[in-house]
Amino acid sequence: MERISLWLNRHSMYLALLAAWTALCGSLYFSEVRGYVPCVLCWYQRILMYPLSAVIAVGLLRRDPHLPYYVLPLSLYGLGMSTYHYLLEKTDLFAGAAACSQGVACTTQWINWFGFVTIPFLALVAFLIVTLMSVIALLQGEPAAEDGAGSSLRAPWLPVGGSIAAVLGIFAVLFLSGEPIASAAVQPSPFPTLVLAPPQVEAEPVSEGGRGEQLYLQACAACHGVDGQGVANLGNRLRGSDFLAAATDAEVLAVTRQGRELNDPANTSGLVMPPSGGRPDLSDADLLAILQYLRQP
Ligand code: HEC
Repeated sequence: MERISLWLNRHSMYLALLAAWTALCGSLYFSEVRGYVPCVLCWYQRILMYPLSAVIAVGLLRRDPHLPYYVLPLSLYGLGMSTYHYLLEKTDLFAGAAACSQGVACTTQWINWFGFVTIPFLALVAFLIVTLMSVIALLQGEPAAEDGAGSSLRAPWLPVGGSIAAVLGIFAVLFLSGEPIASAAVQPSPFPTLVLAPPQVEAEPVSEGGRGEQLYLQACAACHGVDGQGVANLGNRLRGSDFLAAATDAEVLAVTRQGRELNDPANTSGLVMPPSGGRPDLSDADLLAILQYLRQP
């Protein structure tokens, strides 16, 4: 136990380095390989996380005893941001917050492993590790430059470079295993180019038909368009589409639940549809109400 805490004391900022680089590579893997579109809040978290990968590396190389002071402001903002984002996804605490009225909704859950691990959750864990490790380094307070004799004053290129190379090596496998993202973003899109914000919907009791419309606007309109006609580079046309005309309710429900990854043979747009439209909280009855709304002429 004592040895572990001793090891942690001396290497805490290396763990922070690993966490920051894993978050950097992981987020790029999700967006660039898997095709999951980052929302506005995701971008804010990237703005805070990406510099950390460099700041921590340079601080370690310089053996800068003040490194935690540069890291903590960024990691604490990031911690707040990802906590807010996760609560937005999983609770009604901030219902109605217009955080992402442009582009993909901040409430869209691209992944939902074990029912609770979403992308903001992973970011939260990374920011938490960076923060805790910086606090440990801060409390320890020992100037890193004086932790040994003579040679230790040299920059620790090997462990810093090795840590980064290890993370990059692991992710290189993932990056290379992915298929190149289809050129949907480059080709002229068949979808209308107007990106409209889904209107804020009043949480009033509404009729069954109105409920489908309300749920559609909350969960699907950001990608499929307020009018169901699709949004460029986010989602295709649903209202009046050949697919909806040909498929039974059960088939549409199954497709919606499953979503469509880039490597799915049925994928036509080169864009990803998240499982359940990124809203695992919607029940079958909810999705059928949406479908009923979409089938209305
Ligand atoms: C983050 C964007 C996004 C969200 C949110 C989203 N979709 Fe999709 N959806 C897509 C994309 C992209 C496709 C097209 C995938 C392809 O190329 O086959 C799609 C395809 C579909 C299809 C198959 C249509 C066809 O022609 O093959 C259905 C049905 C569908 N979505 C329903 C929904 C419903 C219902 C919701 C809301 C609960 C929803 N989607 C939310 C992006 C989204």
